[in-house]
Amino acid sequence: MRLSRYFLPVLKEDPKEAQIVSHRYMLRAGMIKQQSAGIYSWLPLGLRVLNRIQQIVNEEQIRAGHVPVLMPTLQSADLWRESGRYDAYGPEMLRIKDRHDREMLYGPTNEEMITDMFRAHVSSYKSLPLTLYQIQWKFRDEMRPRFGVMRGREFLMKDGYNFDLTKEDALHAYNRHMVSYLRTYERMGLTAIPMRADSGPIGGEDTHEFLVLAQTGESEVFYDARVTELKLGDRSVDYDNREEVKAVCDEFTTLYARTDETHDEGIFAEVPEEHRRVARGIEVGQIFYFGTKYSEAMGATVVSPEGKQIPVEMGSHGIGVSRLIGAIIEASHDDKGIIWPEGVTPFPVGIVNLKQGDAATDAACDALYKGLAAKGLEALYDDRDERAGAKFATMDLIGLPWRITVGPRGLANGVVEVTSRRTGLSEEMSAEAAIAKIAAIYENI
Ligand SMILES: Nc1ncnc2c1ncn2[C@@H]1O[C@H](COP(=O)(O)OP(=O)(O)O)[C@@H](O)[C@H]1O
Ligand SMILES: [Mg+2]
Repeated sequence: MRLSRYFLPVLKEDPKEAQIVSHRYMLRAGMIKQQSAGIYSWLPLGLRVLNRIQQIVNEEQIRAGHVPVLMPTLQSADLWRESGRYDAYGPEMLRIKDRHDREMLYGPTNEEMITDMFRAHVSSYKSLPLTLYQIQWKFRDEMRPRFGVMRGREFLMKDGYNFDLTKEDALHAYNRHMVSYLRTYERMGLTAIPMRADSGPIGGEDTHEFLVLAQTGESEVFYDARVTELKLGDRSVDYDNREEVKAVCDEFTTLYARTDETHDEGIFAEVPEEHRRVARGIEVGQIFYFGTKYSEAMGATVVSPEGKQIPVEMGSHGIGVSRLIGAIIEASHDDKGIIWPEGVTPFPVGIVNLKQGDAATDAACDALYKGLAAKGLEALYDDRDERAGAKFATMDLIGLPWRITVGPRGLANGVVEVTSRRTGLSEEMSAEAAIAKIAAIYENI
């Protein structure tokens, strides 16, 4: 992409409505535009990151054996009357009437609708286990939408639902989700800690929230500092192997880690004092096991191997897809702008032309751009007729992890400069070596 032909409306001034750094940088870097309270348009740069995040979520869900679907944003109120949640949900639900005066709502979550799909098409235990998921917009009329995409009213969520014959099977689905989420967040360059939480309006028994530590987080969290060192890494996990999946969950949930809702001073006091931490965190996902709460209320039953009609065991599992962008920026930035982890960056590398209009420099940039494209890497090429300082400031603000700088002086010596956004360190090398270096970095991402 050539910057001269792109749509990147960068702001010079700090927008005053933005109270936290991620919101400020998303507005300044031209990623989003607010349309009304808690409702945003996604501009090209923001959309690229949103798409990257969705791609990672999809890949990890499919790896865990879960099946994608897409449900509508608008739902009928009658479905929610069946579960009893139409009245229980309260003012966060956006209620709408169509032209025939039928009551509709913009879905805040989809347990009812997925249960309805299930009961329409599944009648035997032979179709189980089954986990369906979608990535779809949700609407919750939050009392205080704030912090940009972090607490929006319209926001993108991955929501998944498991259907199982027995409680044991459903708990395996719960564990499988936990492991798939750990891998999802790690691929985004995040440490998200599973913490025992409270189930709220979804209801149910078992639930964990995944929290990214950040001072601006809305949740108060209590944990043993050693949980932050746990990593899944590239170990392969067989999602069908119950013991193996459970062992990973045990590894990540044995040390103390709880949100304020479930925090227990007595148990926390047993954590060695030097490891005890009280901090704040951003909730980027939550998993629930709730058994037969919805299947009983809505008649989602299957015929068991013994020939009996029994309600299916269920759970639901959410990832805050749009919120994650804010969380990643909170976790990875400096005073010049965003620092994208390679896994989610909108472009893998930027090219800065120090002397636009100079035939040799322009030709070298074009060749570099094509060479990167041949390796499957789409560079963002700053080909504007701007001062070097302004080009560097834009690159630093939008946070591409790698920058290649091309100027007449370097070219005279046969080199370009490769700079890491994270460390700020630069290295000179030939254009071919620069392409090979960037390609090697992204090879396994
Ligand atoms: N208002 C919101 N704006 C952006 N993301 C949200 C919002 N509410 C929830 N999410 C994201 O969706 C995920 C799943 O939602 P859920 O756990 O049902 O929500 P909540 O924690 O608000 O009850 C949350 O972990 C969070 O990351
Ligand atoms: Mg939650």
